[in-house]
Amino acid sequence: MNRLPFTQGSKLQPHCRIRKCNFFHGASSVNDTFFPLHCKMSFSSSKRPVLAVLGCGTMGVAILKGIHDTLDGGCQEELFPNKFLVTCSRQESKARLTKTFERNDTEVHCGDNVHVAEVSDIVLLCCKPQGSKAILTLPGMKEALKNKCLISICAGVTILQMQDWLDPSTHVMRAMPNTPCKIRQGMTVLSPASNVDQVYQQLAFNMFSTLGRCRVLEEKHMDAVTALSGSGPAFGCVILEAFADGGVMMGLPRDVAIELAAQAMNGAARMVLETGAHPAEIKDGVTTPAGSTIAGLLTMEDGKIRSTLARTIQEATNVASTLGRKQS
Ligand SMILES: NC(=O)c1ccc[n+]([C@@H]2O[C@H](COP(=O)([O-])OP(=O)(O)OC[C@H]3O[C@@H](n4cnc5c(N)ncnc54)[C@H](OP(=O)(O)O)[C@@H]3O)[C@@H](O)[C@H]2O)c1
Repeated sequence: MNRLPFTQGSKLQPHCRIRKCNFFHGASSVNDTFFPLHCKMSFSSSKRPVLAVLGCGTMGVAILKGIHDTLDGGCQEELFPNKFLVTCSRQESKARLTKTFERNDTEVHCGDNVHVAEVSDIVLLCCKPQGSKAILTLPGMKEALKNKCLISICAGVTILQMQDWLDPSTHVMRAMPNTPCKIRQGMTVLSPASNVDQVYQQLAFNMFSTLGRCRVLEEKHMDAVTALSGSGPAFGCVILEAFADGGVMMGLPRDVAIELAAQAMNGAARMVLETGAHPAEIKDGVTTPAGSTIAGLLTMEDGKIRSTLARTIQEATNVASTLGRKQS
C-alpha cells in the first residue's frame, strides 16, 4: 500500500515498526508511543478479521469493492479484513451480489443476518436507516454482537439508539462514507462511542482510509456530515450537469461538455485539498478584471447560488436528523 491519506484531526499516528508492517497504527493512550494494536486482539477464525456487511446495497457494494481493491493491491496488514460475508433480503439481490462478488473470500447470504454476525469479527450495518432496528433486534443478534464491533453507516441512527438495542459489551461506531468509496476517492467520517476499543477504532480507520479520506469527529456533527459528505456527490453532480448544459447551449457536444465540467470541478477540488488554499484564493487568482470569469461569477451571485447551496446542506442536515426516528 503506497499511500494512506491521514487527515488532520485524527489522533492516530503513522507507522508500526514491527513485523514489516507499513500500516498506520494508533498511539497508546498510556504512554503515547507507537505500539502494535493488532497484537492486542485475536480474531474469531484466523489472524485477520472477518467482516460482515449486513444489508449490502449501493453503499455496501461501494465499500466492499474498495476494500477488495485494496486487498488485490497486496495489502498484508493484519488489522484489515480478508474474509467477507454479505447479506441482502431478496433472492434477486443475492443473485446480483453473487455475480458482483465472484471471489473465494466473499460469501453472499439472503437473510441469515444473525448467523453472519456470529461468525464475523466486525459488522458493517449498511441497510436503510428505517430498517436498522429490525436487523439489530433480531432474536440472537444481541448475543451475536457481544464484544464485537458494529459500525453503522445508517444516516440519523444514533449511537445511543443502537446501544439501547444491543449488549453493553458491543463496540458501537458510526461511519458516514460516500459513494466515491467505490473508486477509492471517498470521504468517510467515523464517530466511535466512548467505550470502543482502540483496536476496533484502528481497524475501522484502516478500512475506510483505503477508500479515500477518513477522519474522526464527534457524533454531534454526523447529520451535517451526512448532508455535506454523504449526499455531497449527488449535489455535486447536479452542479456539474448544469455546467455541462451551459456548454451544450453554447455549442459543445454533450460528452465534451460533461468531461470539461467534471475535470474543472475535479481540478478545483484537488487544488483545495492538495495545496490547502482557500477556495476564494483560487477563485480570485483566475478572475481577471473585466474578464469572462467575473462576468460569470456575478451571474452566479444574481442567482443566489451561495445561499441556495448552503441552504441545501442545512435542509439535508435537518432531514438526516429525523431518519433514525422512523423505524419499520
Ligand atoms: N446512498 C448514499 O449515497 C449514502 C451515503 C452515505 C450513507 N448512506 C447510508 O447507507 C445506508 C444504505 O444506503 P443504500 O443507498 O446503500 O441503500 P440500498 O441500496 O437500498 O441498500 C440497502 C440494502 O439493505 C438490504 N436489506 C434490507 N433489509 C434487509 C434485511 N432484513 N436483511 C439483510 N439485508 C437487508 C437490501 O437488500 P435487498 O436489495 O435484497 O432488498 C439492500 O441490499 C443508508 O442507511 C444510508 O443512510 C447512503
